[in-house]
Amino acid sequence: MRKKVIAGNWKMNHNPQETTKFFEEFNDLVKDSNNEIIICVPYIDVNAALEGTKGTNIKIGTQNLNHEEAGALTGDISCKMLQDIGIKYTIIGHSERREFHHETDEFVNLKIKAAIEHDIIPILCVGETLFEREKGIAKYKIVTQIVLDLDGISGEDVKNMIIAYEPIWAIGTGKTASSEDANEVCKWIRDEIRSMYGDEVADIVTIQYGGSVKPGNAKELFSMSDIDGGLVGGASLKPDDFAKIVNFDK
Ligand code: PGA
Repeated sequence: MRKKVIAGNWKMNHNPQETTKFFEEFNDLVKDSNNEIIICVPYIDVNAALEGTKGTNIKIGTQNLNHEEAGALTGDISCKMLQDIGIKYTIIGHSERREFHHETDEFVNLKIKAAIEHDIIPILCVGETLFEREKGIAKYKIVTQIVLDLDGISGEDVKNMIIAYEPIWAIGTGKTASSEDANEVCKWIRDEIRSMYGDEVADIVTIQYGGSVKPGNAKELFSMSDIDGGLVGGASLKPDDFAKIVNFDK
C-alpha cells in the first residue's frame, strides 16, 4: 500500500506573518493524520514555515529552484541554498512556470537532477491543456513530458519522487477532472514509469492529482487506485480547508 501524500502549493500568496498564523491554526488540526503532509511556500516564507512546523508532521518545500549551485543568476534561488537551510521538497515544472517562465522539458530535467543531487525530493508536475485533451493528444503530451523530464534519472531516484498529474484546464478554474479520468491519466503515468524502470519503481512512486482539489472532492479522488494524494493550490491557503483535505480519510 502506497502512503497518501498531500501537498499544498501556496503559489504567490501569504507573507511571513500570515505564514506563522497559518501554522498556529493548522498544526493541531492535522497532528493525527495518517497521510504525509508537505506545504510548498514562497521563498520569502520558508523561514517562518520551518520555524512554525518544528517538531510537527508537516514538511516544508519550495515551488522552484535553480539547478546551478551559485552564480550570476539575478533573482534566482539555488539548489544548494535550499539544501543549506534544510529544504527537502520542491515543486518542479509546474504548468505556470512552464507557461509564464518558458521552462522547457530540458530545463525541468536539469532542475530535477540538481534537486536529487542536493537531497531535495522533486514534485514533478505534468499535464495537458484543454486543447490537447480535445484533440486526443493528452496521453502523448504527458508521456512525452515524463520521458524528457526523467531522462538520465535512475529508478532508485524516481522511486523517491512525487509526480503530480495536473490537467492545466483544471488548475484554479474550479473544474476538476472526474475521478475516473484523473485515475486513468495517473495510470498512464505509472505504466510509462513501469516500461522505463520496471514494476518495483512503478509500484512505489507517488503519483498525485492536482487541479481544483477541494474538501468536497478530495475523498473521491484520493480513493482511486492510482491516485496517491494531491497537489492543492487555492484550497491549501486556509488552515481549515486544507486540514479537511489532509484528513479526507477520517
Ligand atoms: P488549484 O491549483 O488547486 O488552485 O487548482 C493546483 C496547482 O496548481 O498546483
